[in-house]
Order: sequence, then C-alpha cells, then structure tokens
Amino acid sequence: MKALILAGGLGTRLRPLSCTRPKILFPIANVPLIDLTLERLASNSVVESVLAVNFMAEKLQHTLGCSKHGMKLTYSRDAPISSSKQHAQRALGTGGPVKQAERILGSKEPFFVMNGDILSKANYAIMMEEHKSAGCVATIALARVTNPSRYGIVKVGSNRRIESFIEKPVSQAGSALVNAGIYVFEPEIFDYIPVNKKCSLERAVFPRLADEGRLLGYKIENLWVDVGKPEDYIVGNKLWIKASGISAIPRAVIDSRVQIEDAVAIDEGVTLGEESILGPNLSLGKGVRVGKRVLIRDSIVFPNTIISNSATIEGSIIGESVTIERDVKIKGGCLIGDNALIQEGITLPKNVKICPSVTISESVEESHCMT
Ligand code: GTP
Repeated sequence: MKALILAGGLGTRLRPLSCTRPKILFPIANVPLIDLTLERLASNSVVESVLAVNFMAEKLQHTLGCSKHGMKLTYSRDAPISSSKQHAQRALGTGGPVKQAERILGSKEPFFVMNGDILSKANYAIMMEEHKSAGCVATIALARVTNPSRYGIVKVGSNRRIESFIEKPVSQAGSALVNAGIYVFEPEIFDYIPVNKKCSLERAVFPRLADEGRLLGYKIENLWVDVGKPEDYIVGNKLWIKASGISAIPRAVIDSRVQIEDAVAIDEGVTLGEESILGPNLSLGKGVRVGKRVLIRDSIVFPNTIISNSATIEGSIIGESVTIERDVKIKGGCLIGDNALIQEGITLPKNVKICPSVTISESVEESHCMT
C-alpha cells in the first residue's frame, strides 16, 4: 500500500515559526510530526509514502531522505521552482498534488492521502478494510469535535455514505463530525481532478462524490488533532505526551528543587535551574537551557533556546535558538521566531508574533507582529 502526504502548504497560521521550517517538521513531544505520521503508516502496512511538496521542498527532501521506518520515501513536487512567490503561484492546493502523483501512486490499488498537519493515532489498516468492503471511490476519516463551527461539518446518511458538507456553520451547538484530513482513494479519483491545476479536494472533489453517493465516512475514535493553528498545536502536543505516556524526566540535568507538573516532555541535554516550575503541558527541545525561578506552562520550546532567570512563559511557542533574558514575561498566544532575542525585563502581552532574528528591547502592544 502507498500513502500520499500533503506537505507543501505555506503554513501561514503558524508564522513566523513556519517561515524557517515546514509544518511537518514541527516537533510533537520533541519528535518531528512527520516522523510520527510515517511510523504509524509503516506499522499499518504502508510500504511507500509520497510527500507532495512545494514550499521548502528542498529542506524537506534533505531532512527526510529516501527511507524512514523501513518505508520508501518519494517526493512529488507541485512545481520545480524555487522562489517563494512562485511557490505561492504554482501551489496545487489539496487536490492538484494527488493528480500530480498519479504515476507514482499507480492505477492498481487504493491508497491513502492525508494532510501533513494531522496528529492522529487512527487505525489506518481498519480504515482501508472498511473502504474496500464498501466499494466507494473515496473514504473520508471523520473526527468528532466539540467546536464544529471552526470546521466544515459532514452529514452522514444511511450505509455511512456522506451526503453533504456544511461549511463553517455559525449556529452549530454541541459536537459534530468533521473531515479529519485523512482519506482512502481508489485510482478512479484521478478522473475527478484536473491536470496541473490548483484544485481543492474539500470544495471541488468531495461534494461531487457525495452527490454521486460514492463517498464513505469512517469515524476515528482515537486521538486526532489538526495542529495547523498555534492553539491546536499546543493542545495536540499535550494530548500526544499524555497518550504516549512520555516520562517527564529522561536524560535532562535536573536540580532536585525543580518542580515538574505533568505532562512534560524534556529532550536530551536540557538544563533546568533551581526553583523553576515547569508544566503542566510543556515540551522542552534538545539543549534548552532554563535558568533559576523560571515558570513555563502550556508551551512548546524548540531546541537550543535559552530562558534566563525569573522568566515566565505561558501558552506560547518559542522557536529554535531564541534568547529570553531575565525577568521577561511572555503571555498567552505568543509565537517567537528562531534566533529572536527578548531583552531583560520585557513583557510580551497576548498574541504577539516576533519574526526570526528580531531583537525586542522595548515593550510591545497586544496582537502585534514584530518584523
Ligand atoms: P495555512 O496557510 O496555515 O492554512 O496552512 P497550509 O498552507 O498548510 O494549508 P492547509 O492547512 O489548509 O493545508 C492542509 C494540508 O495540505 C497541509 O498538510 C498542507 O501542507 C497541504 N497543502 C496545502 N496547500 C498545498 C499545496 O498547494 N501543495 C501541496 N503539495 N500541499 C498543500
């Protein structure tokens, strides 16, 4: 079996962190998201994964190579060009890359297609079995969410056939089933997608299949999070740490006076200063250095960042090799780009974004983007 992973989006909602790395390389409990996806596919009998790349294609190919978890990796590019402006112009959306990879995916058997920014413990083997026995052109995995107004709701009829999609309903109360971004397609799907053109699976292909009664819904009961938005990325990281039973204290150097509140993932080479309180819901990447009396919770810190004495960080994502000086306070929803410097005593209010390599030496307004 083969799988196609959509991995060429710009990831604008995770900027500025996605300016310097593709979304699928973002760490979940200190492991790149794509590694978790590939591991799960390999353990569900997938023998080859095709990465549909566009934005930062070279970086991805260089980082991932040609095999992972005993599985062959191949790359299918939206367009063989290099400037980011051209990337945006030639992006094929979620459908175009499927058609683009037609030759690699072949015409003999069904295959998986999935959004690269999905964190899931779905049982792909069972999904494939159900797809085969239903005889539809496509099967969409469905996740139950409690805030469906942010997604498109899927209406399922008899025989688990998907009847229609309701885009971002304003008045929906309670939970509902939404498109989980994981699919099984018969090769017949290629007839529904135009060649070398931008095309949306969600808007152009699935409604047509639903009208024809050839679209199956498969409910996922296991962990599922779309980590494409900062707050969901933090939640996904927390749920993954909890679900995977990751131990808070691996090979880090930890002072006995440090307080760790579950769930926390600490990578190799992390140092923690005395009287710091870490967690709940926190990842500290490789080589992160935390000073004394630091407080960090509900956050993700990428490798090699330095957090100095008495700093406080809540509900934020801190990029790689960032320097946070003493007494800095970072409130919820902040995204700090790689190599940024936040100078002593600065308070960042909610939802501030700081671009890579920027130095912050004065106070910043709420929801501001510092370039
Ligand atoms: P935002 O800009 O934050 O919306 O993120 P995104 O660009 O990744 O878009 P979205 O989350 O809707 O994309 C869903 C999945 O499709 C992600 O895994 C993307 O990487 C992928 N994707 C989106 N657009 C393209 C594209 O034009 N080409 C390829 N190859 N993949 C894409």
